Amino acid sequence: MDYHIKDIGLSGKGKKRIEWAELDMPVLRRVNANFAKHRPLKGTRLAACLHVTTETANLVITLKAGGADVVVCASNPLSTQDDVAASLVKDFKIPVFAIKGEDNKTYYRHLNAVLDRKPNITMDDGADLVSLVHSGRKDLAQYVMGSTEETTTGVIRLKAMAVNKVLKFPVIAVNDASTKHFFDNRYGTGQSTLDGILRATNRLFAGSTFVVLGYGWCGKGVAMRARGLGANVIVTEVDPLKALEAVMDGFRVMPMADPSKIGDIFCTVTGNLNVVRKEHFLRMKDGALVCNSGHFNVELDLVGLKGASKGKKVVRDFVEEYTLKNGRKVCVLGEGRLINLASAEGHPASVMDMSFANQALAADFLVKKGKSLNNQVYTVPEEIDKEIARLKLASLGMKIDTLTAEQKKYLASWEMGT
Ligand code: ADE
Repeated sequence: MDYHIKDIGLSGKGKKRIEWAELDMPVLRRVNANFAKHRPLKGTRLAACLHVTTETANLVITLKAGGADVVVCASNPLSTQDDVAASLVKDFKIPVFAIKGEDNKTYYRHLNAVLDRKPNITMDDGADLVSLVHSGRKDLAQYVMGSTEETTTGVIRLKAMAVNKVLKFPVIAVNDASTKHFFDNRYGTGQSTLDGILRATNRLFAGSTFVVLGYGWCGKGVAMRARGLGANVIVTEVDPLKALEAVMDGFRVMPMADPSKIGDIFCTVTGNLNVVRKEHFLRMKDGALVCNSGHFNVELDLVGLKGASKGKKVVRDFVEEYTLKNGRKVCVLGEGRLINLASAEGHPASVMDMSFANQALAADFLVKKGKSLNNQVYTVPEEIDKEIARLKLASLGMKIDTLTAEQKKYLASWEMGT
């Protein structure tokens, strides 16, 4: 079996951690049992470009149980858990091409290695596989029946491809399922981002000024949890509706020129590029921490920061201290890559449970219905989304009410008013 990982000797630790995550993934476990019985993905070659974590391991094990011939590469150079990669190869016989800290060239070599398998389904977190199949590896599009996409940034890229009529196969936007973005993006990013900042720095949040750039689902989660730890949270936004929502959620909202002078910790979650720029870095207080939890490492203008600096040094794992020409110091965490996966372990299993149940069922849907779909971006069918929510509630021991016959009739009628 061909693979490229850091060290196969790490598999023992990886296996234990994969099993630990599995305990908190009851919905995916059910999908796994069902897949093992019916083998809906039998004969499908599936290439997954995801963060190689304990949760992803449980997803690809499930896909394999469903009969898929699975191969995995990383969707970010800094998010791979090397022990998990080792266990997938050794214990589960799943080829993995991913090493934490790989350089850009190796990252793309790994993407190409999984594409060499001529996948019928690609599973992306950030749309890098789809993008490669539409650029350097165009010859492979003929084999792909469809793709699934995990994250907001990827969905934005794919929708742009569909609008420009260049998309060559259908894509299921897993991110847009309610059981994905309401929970993973908000509670997952909220908790794991703070976990990443804390593990990297051990700074006290209470009493600090924490600036969240972007108030989408991820920004809402980060702001909510930073407030929970006692930070004074400031939000920056470009969208008036989201800004208004942040105001009514009780946060101060201002343009970045203002909080750049008073923030202790800055975290970008916008999905856009150069959100924190040289002019902002130059205003920052001595010792300010700056990080990103958006998908790509483009949100901090590190080239601008370097140009404004006299030097930089690594002061802790995942912390680089830049000394500005004005004498002040600014610390960048995790090289500006998503901090929740760079210095911590990403979202907890319980929330990835729903995201990855969506992924597995989206792959099943593509096999069953892919041929009837157009080269567009589709949302996960509502019945799958609702079923995942039902199963998650049941796994948590929660019961809910059902509509009475009278209520159903009322909702379907228009005659009854005041
Ligand atoms: N994205 C964020 N957290 C993740 C995790 N734990 N596993 C895979 N992808 C993720």
